Amino acid sequence: MRVITTVKEMQSEVIKQKGQGKSVGFVPTMGFLHEGHLSLIKKARKENDLVVLSIFVNPLQFGPNEDFATYPRDFERDRALAECEGVDFLFHPSVEEMYSNPSSVTLVVQARTDVLCGKSRPGHFDGVATVLTKLFHIVQPTRAYFGKKDAQQVAVVEGLITDLNFPVELVPVDIVREADGLAKSSRNVNLLPEDRQKAVVLHKSLLQAKKLIGEGERKPDALISLIKEMITSESSGRIDYVEILSYPELLPLERIEGKFIIALAVHFTNVRLIDNFILEMD
Ligand code: PAJ
Repeated sequence: MRVITTVKEMQSEVIKQKGQGKSVGFVPTMGFLHEGHLSLIKKARKENDLVVLSIFVNPLQFGPNEDFATYPRDFERDRALAECEGVDFLFHPSVEEMYSNPSSVTLVVQARTDVLCGKSRPGHFDGVATVLTKLFHIVQPTRAYFGKKDAQQVAVVEGLITDLNFPVELVPVDIVREADGLAKSSRNVNLLPEDRQKAVVLHKSLLQAKKLIGEGERKPDALISLIKEMITSESSGRIDYVEILSYPELLPLERIEGKFIIALAVHFTNVRLIDNFILEMD
């Protein structure tokens, strides 16, 4: 595995490899790798000749009061894990390498950002779209792998790839969870022990909503109330949002039907967690 820190070297290496007819699987991350990230890498490894992993904590997608400074980082551990998974190139640029100061161009996402994380994190998806556009130009992947844990991100990236005509296939990958159901996240290490225990209610409440839908409940509002009640009665988490929307359009639903997402975001003492189920009615 080779660690590359400059845009120029990364670009010339992929151009060389693609010239030899190799397919490139790309896994963009912000590091502090866990099994969720590793499942994306494993899939990319299976489906491509070459695997590129990027680790870059992208300042552009964090709001002024968010956790950019405390976002967990451990490059040496990440490097060892990437090596074990058979990554060929680990792209690890500095902020200065990625962004000129001030930037002359950034992107603005026009659709699907007035709901869920887009609503509570203004500018977040503009930052994601900008960094991914740059990374797609730098890595020139055949396929790019994204986790369904960030389901709105998957929908936004689908729009980015279509609208800007990137010759990239987006591959969505299922959520990997802890044994008790909590979705794996780099931020889980920052949870206080009591919050970590209580955070299991996020997955539990989604399971309960799914069960009620199975029993015939079709009113989004009733399901949202149930989830909110469970979260507030079983934890001290502060709810950011609980929403049920069509997927991938992310439009409001009068009634549960078609393909839809139940998504939530909850603040614990010092960490904001997200989770979701994407379901489809027959
Ligand atoms: P990051 O949060 O590091 O996540 C990198 C990728 O791993 C994302 O596609 C995310 O959905 C996926 N992932 C995280 N936890 C997962 C889990 N429990 N199961 C399955 N996949 C999981 O998402 C980002 O970074 C950034 O926004 C990025 C795309 C790198 C742009 O900066």
